[in-house]
Amino acid sequence: MLVRRAYIPDAQRPESFDAWPYTVPCVAELAGRGLTFTAPVTMLVGENGSGKSTLVEAIAEGFKLDSHGGRAGRKYVNDRPKTPLGEVIELETTPAGSRMLTGPRSRRKGFFLRAETAFGLLNAVSGKYGYWDEDTAEMSHGEGFLTVFGAMFRERGFYVMDEPEAALSFESCLKLVGLMHQLAGTGAQVVCATHSPILAATPGADIIEVGEHGTRRAKWDELDLVDHWRRYLTDPDLYLRHITG
Ligand SMILES: Nc1ncnc2c1ncn2[C@@H]1O[C@H](COP(=O)(O)OP(=O)(O)OP(=O)(O)O)[C@@H](O)[C@H]1O
Ligand SMILES: [Mg+2]
Repeated sequence: MLVRRAYIPDAQRPESFDAWPYTVPCVAELAGRGLTFTAPVTMLVGENGSGKSTLVEAIAEGFKLDSHGGRAGRKYVNDRPKTPLGEVIELETTPAGSRMLTGPRSRRKGFFLRAETAFGLLNAVSGKYGYWDEDTAEMSHGEGFLTVFGAMFRERGFYVMDEPEAALSFESCLKLVGLMHQLAGTGAQVVCATHSPILAATPGADIIEVGEHGTRRAKWDELDLVDHWRRYLTDPDLYLRHITG
């Protein structure tokens, strides 16, 4: 692992929590007692607007990953100001994480991938740096992603992802689970926000449910997300009659 905990140092904590992002319960909690990472793969799940992106973006910024979707070590887009939470967040790193974070840019491995900019990342790195032999331009969106994931995950790094499932089919999601699971064994670390019950089921992943309560650890089969999918797949009409009727 590379990062053990995210927190806001005392000196940086705001006096009042009345303004965004501290109005988001999981951010208030981060400011209070921090967020610990207990496994190489952490999955953040929770309703729309619960604060997952706010958290993962700031965590990526804390590790100096390009918060607009690019790789560490190399810029692919121009600098933009950090998010308010990214400005103040600190990461408690392991010795390996600390060597990456304090060393030269090129030593920092990993990337921040978010759904909105993932396609840009793919285009920007496609064919340029020789990480993969295949030409992603000739692949479908999802195929390209998997190729890039597969190639980039060879490096022991810090991988922060926001809904990487957006472009992926069921089977491709399974492949991504396989890649993340493999990666976990190499000393790398993944922090991933997701709505996918498939990704959330990554073996050994620490699942954090984000919501009104702030954050809490949860078992996969007790997640609201999983419960809804299970019921919906068993009987869609149970849900649809509320929508259409
Ligand atoms: N720049 C911003 N300024 C003010 N409020 C914001 C900003 N960005 C997000 N928010 C609010 O912060 C809350 C958390 O948003 P966030 O995007 O982190 O949720 P999320 O869990 O990622 O949701 P989703 O599952 O839809 O991606 C939401 O209420 C959102 O409206
Ligand atoms: Mg989000």
